[in-house]
Amino acid sequence: MSQLSQPTFRHTPVLADEVCQLLINDRSGVYVDGTFGLGGHSKALSLLLNDDATLVGIDQDESALAQFDPSLIRQKLHLVCTNFENLDQVLHDLNMTQVHGILLDLGLNSFSLGDPKRGFAFSLTGPLDMRFDRSNEFTAETVINEYSQEKLAEIIFRYGEERNSRRIARRIVEMRTQKRLTTSDELKLAVVKSVDPRFQNKSLARVFQAFRIEVNREMEVLGTLLESALDCLAPGGRLAVISYHSLEDRMVKNHFRDLSMDVPRQPGMHDSEIKIPFLKRITAKPLIAGDVEAGLNPRARSAKLRVAERTSHARQ
Ligand SMILES: C[S@@+](CC[C@H](N)C(=O)[O-])C[C@H]1O[C@@H](n2cnc3c(N)ncnc32)[C@H](O)[C@@H]1O
Repeated sequence: MSQLSQPTFRHTPVLADEVCQLLINDRSGVYVDGTFGLGGHSKALSLLLNDDATLVGIDQDESALAQFDPSLIRQKLHLVCTNFENLDQVLHDLNMTQVHGILLDLGLNSFSLGDPKRGFAFSLTGPLDMRFDRSNEFTAETVINEYSQEKLAEIIFRYGEERNSRRIARRIVEMRTQKRLTTSDELKLAVVKSVDPRFQNKSLARVFQAFRIEVNREMEVLGTLLESALDCLAPGGRLAVISYHSLEDRMVKNHFRDLSMDVPRQPGMHDSEIKIPFLKRITAKPLIAGDVEAGLNPRARSAKLRVAERTSHARQ
């Protein structure tokens, strides 16, 4: 592990060495950190980029951007508070057409996770909020109190991959008929009362993850970004995505696979059937943290990094 992965003041970027090594292809290029968070990866990239490079940091959580000290980056840095699904608009507003690298380190930052007022952590007491972007009105409280029992079970199952989804959804509905649920402790109680005590913590993590994904439309915005990001890359430019659960990783894997497949011309084939790959996969398998990093940084244990490069072919 090099100095890039050493713990900083309160945040350690995950797989920072690997990201820097695989993302940078032009040290004077333009790089987008689409999930800026506490700026850990951007600082690591900055150490290796030339002074004339440019960094664009995007985060929809204004509290993350507000606590960053821009003087830590010596290159030109643009910080933009928005959803990364708006990447093409961000680049348009900055008069940029194509960039050399885009990084996504999905999920939430440790600063927000540790803030009880945000409601992300089941170990802390707080409101049922879970919004990355607090200017949105849609919170976990709305989901938990207003969705039907079937819809709650579907979300817990689909986004949390939790086997006891129906039982937990039924318990939430029973509890909310007595009183509107407003705190993370109440959601925690609904889960704890529905699952085997031996697996409680795993179930709690899955259920809280499921509601967070729903509140922030995480799968939808990732799909939008994957579509638009590749058009924003210059030929040879790379997209690196670190995901923390199988749903995200599967989406990234399938997207990279589909766009890197070629279908060469065969006799009698129509032009529309020929496919020239628009992407080249740089990581055949996802990269994961080594034992040392995983031991030092629990968040790294579930991280998977996939990287793909835009070819010089036009998209069909
Ligand atoms: C895991 S943290 C990133 C940490 C960062 N790489 C670092 O080293 O400091 C993910 C960040 O992405 C932000 N985020 C998640 N989804 C987003 C989205 N759709 N658009 C913009 N920011 C998003 C979260 O608010 C959070 O700050």
